[in-house]
Amino acid sequence: MLIGVPKEVHREERRVAATPDSAERLQKLGYSVAVETGAGAAAQFTDEAYREAGAEIVEEARDLWQKADIVLKVRGPEPHPALGLHESEMLKDNGHLISFIWPAQNEDLMGRLRARNGTILAMDTIPRISRAQKCDALSSMANIAGYRAVVEATNRFGRFFGGQTTAAGNVPPAKIMVIGAGVSGLSAIGAGARMGAIVRAFDTRPEVRQQVESLGAEFLELAFEEDGSGEGGYAKVMSEEFIKAEMDLFAHQAMEVDVIITTALIPGKPAPRLITAGMVESMQDGSVIVDLAAEQGGNCELTVPGDVAVRHGVSIIGYTDLPSRMATQSSQLYANNLWYLLDDLTPEKDGQIFVNMEDDLIRGATVIRNGDVTWPPPAPAVTPIPAPPPATEEPGEDPPEKGLHDGIKSVITMLIGGAILYGIGLYAPTSFMVHFTIFVLSCFVGWQVIWNVTPALHTPLMSVTNAISGIVIVGPLLMVSNSSTVITVLATAAIVIATINIAGGFVVTQRMLQMFRKS
Ligand code: NAI
Repeated sequence: MLIGVPKEVHREERRVAATPDSAERLQKLGYSVAVETGAGAAAQFTDEAYREAGAEIVEEARDLWQKADIVLKVRGPEPHPALGLHESEMLKDNGHLISFIWPAQNEDLMGRLRARNGTILAMDTIPRISRAQKCDALSSMANIAGYRAVVEATNRFGRFFGGQTTAAGNVPPAKIMVIGAGVSGLSAIGAGARMGAIVRAFDTRPEVRQQVESLGAEFLELAFEEDGSGEGGYAKVMSEEFIKAEMDLFAHQAMEVDVIITTALIPGKPAPRLITAGMVESMQDGSVIVDLAAEQGGNCELTVPGDVAVRHGVSIIGYTDLPSRMATQSSQLYANNLWYLLDDLTPEKDGQIFVNMEDDLIRGATVIRNGDVTWPPPAPAVTPIPAPPPATEEPGEDPPEKGLHDGIKSVITMLIGGAILYGIGLYAPTSFMVHFTIFVLSCFVGWQVIWNVTPALHTPLMSVTNAISGIVIVGPLLMVSNSSTVITVLATAAIVIATINIAGGFVVTQRMLQMFRKS
């Protein structure tokens, strides 16, 4: 099958869906690759580099779309400015398209794509499950956006971010407040802290505190008890009282900090308004606000999406294309995300796509299959937690009595065991009884020890007891020099087997313990 990579037509979009490196690796999956001329130019990838990677360069966008079995794009199809037709109309009948689609917000586009009878996979609907992380383009792009937000802030801010002591005087470090410590927020915190600024952060999900602190920032405290953790690791909408309390905190911080980076968002909801015009006014002249949620309405009241607004001496950056402003890096990561998805979509590595709807990752990404809308995907199957076994005690039964019953049972068992031993002792020779009693007692002690160990720890315990049980090696060592050849042979075999037991036991124990050690 042929993979086609057209040039992005969205205004100011500099990213490209395949790099020369990913094009080469796509061919190893069995595909041929064709790239529209100039597709990678804005991201610093020349046609020559694609050619060297084995890709074909196609002059005409229309040709490329029509011959490609699978089209890889960054943005969803849009009207083509030069050709005067919608990109979706160029998709081959029954073709495949993989790009950002945003099906919930793009009903018209979904209708157009359905009409092509094709199969469409959306990079924005890939489920946030661990095995899908390698394909998670939203996180890759948010990571870049967070970093770029700090770069944009430094560009507008008239001072160093890190403090300095110079001959001309001391420069205090800049203070940054990051609101929302999700993917982009954490990336901004890391970048700001690495540049030497004092970084503070706030999020409604208390579990991110540790991540914030591990990046060298301070987690801002709010004297209000409400957990913002929602389903699937996302945040939930907070109560009005909570929003008011956090806005009081931000109002206080706004007077102190030099830079505010806001990333607060709950997927599918308009961005919460957290920074008011009054707070902007209270900031010092020359301060900067970077509003990453600009596209969803903005966290700041004065944000102009896609632009920089200067109000009350404060620059408010509302760029909605931060990843595209680092096109080389974002194209590399996005192309990798796409490659991993195609790797999963090509189980035989024979250049044939197989959209396996039984696979959670592929099912989540597939929004249209052969012209049928398959979005939204069904909720992932959740294994029901088994109901607790019905209580066996009679109502009102006193737990200590149960302990008493158990104790009586043990005494009876021991009495019966003692009686059996006594019975055997009446007839068996004394030497046999000594060994037999030790055998019975060791079985009992061993059973008691193992029975009370947590099942997860059985393997390390077994491996170490395995090694210790190698003490049997003493027997064959004593017997090996016996005059009887049969005994010598048997003793030698016993020594070999016991040695494997001892060495193997310790090796396995060592490996098991390694698993619990922090590297
Ligand atoms: P995310 O879901 O990983 O993080 C959002 C964070 O905001 C979560 O940790 C959540 O707990 C927190 N949050 C929600 N409500 C809050 C509140 N009231 N107060 C404090 N924290 C709150 O999302 P991600 O991937 O970090 O993206 C964040 C924003 O950046 C989104 O709006 C996304 O669209 C935008 N973005 C913008 C780009 C640009 O070019 N401007 C590029 C990429 C992402």
